[in-house]
Amino acid sequence: MNDRRDFQVVTGAFSYTGKYLTRRLLNASKRVRTITGHPDRAHEFGDQVEIAPLNFHDPAELIRSLRGASVLYNSYWVRFNHGAATFATAVENSRILIQAAREAGVRRIVHLSIANPSLDSHLPYYSGKAQVEKAIVDSGLSYAILRPTVIFGPEDILINNIAWFARRFPVFAIPGSGAYSIQPIFVEDVAELAENAGGEGGNLVIDAVGPEVFEFEDLTRKIAAAVGARPKFVHVNPGVAHRTLQLLGPIVGDVILTREEIEGLMADLLVSKDRASGRTQFTDWLANNAAILGNTYTSELKKHYR
Ligand SMILES: NC(=O)c1ccc[n+]([C@@H]2O[C@H](COP(=O)([O-])OP(=O)(O)OC[C@H]3O[C@@H](n4cnc5c(N)ncnc54)[C@H](OP(=O)(O)O)[C@@H]3O)[C@@H](O)[C@H]2O)c1
Repeated sequence: MNDRRDFQVVTGAFSYTGKYLTRRLLNASKRVRTITGHPDRAHEFGDQVEIAPLNFHDPAELIRSLRGASVLYNSYWVRFNHGAATFATAVENSRILIQAAREAGVRRIVHLSIANPSLDSHLPYYSGKAQVEKAIVDSGLSYAILRPTVIFGPEDILINNIAWFARRFPVFAIPGSGAYSIQPIFVEDVAELAENAGGEGGNLVIDAVGPEVFEFEDLTRKIAAAVGARPKFVHVNPGVAHRTLQLLGPIVGDVILTREEIEGLMADLLVSKDRASGRTQFTDWLANNAAILGNTYTSELKKHYR
């Protein structure tokens, strides 16, 4: 018998944001296929999610994977240059995926970008994201572009690892003044925004940001207090902060934060000028999750490169 459910494709259903979105789509009785580079990663969906390879060297296969889908939810990106995975290749790969969606007859693309992307930015994360947004707008596909800041949730990296460092080290180094802003959004709220955007028709670009804005130092102090840690907070030159994190990287087996990420944070790029689109208060979530936050280090390298 033919499966008559609305068919939608999600990149990274076994990873972070894509997992929360996939839960919602399955609950809404959608037929879901994921395109992923990690088909064997442990996941909760049993045989409810079809699996296709994230292989940009074979556009014809991507087109086959996308054919018949009404919506492509695209979360694909890289956090930093590492080996062959670079921002430049991520832009090219994204273009291949967008073109494949067009050729497959996908109706709409819901794309996760970043707050404050800019073609002129000297930070390749932000200029690369802006190039991908332009490729989507130019593609002729119906689109919704969601621009998150920092996404918090049980599997997130930045918030969890701040707690991990606060729990283990007597000193917590704040790059620069610590007075720059950050406006985190809950992963469930991003998933809800994405699901809703998939069901709409018109073209849309919105910041995906939560209701609370913190100064970075205030945020780290709140996290430390919530997990019962009392490190001494010191202000250091951003270059020194980065070099220290570079030295600690091999110990945790990760690139902890890049120079560009520190720069973006300090340039107030993780905050929006628009109204909040997410509902969940970070402070409520922090209070409810303090017992588990930062108990283990979350490694980007382990997640995506092993
Ligand atoms: N997390 C945040 O705080 C945050 C903040 C702002 C914007 N965003 C944006 O939101 C989107 C989703 O973020 P997320 O943290 O939820 O991402 P994620 O689930 O960790 O990864 C999303 C997708 O990108 C692929 N991917 C990640 N790193 C890769 C690499 N090095 N090489 C090849 N493929 C790679 C994953 O492939 P697999 O399926 O193989 O895992 C997955 O399909 C991204 O576009 C990100 O830029 C995230």
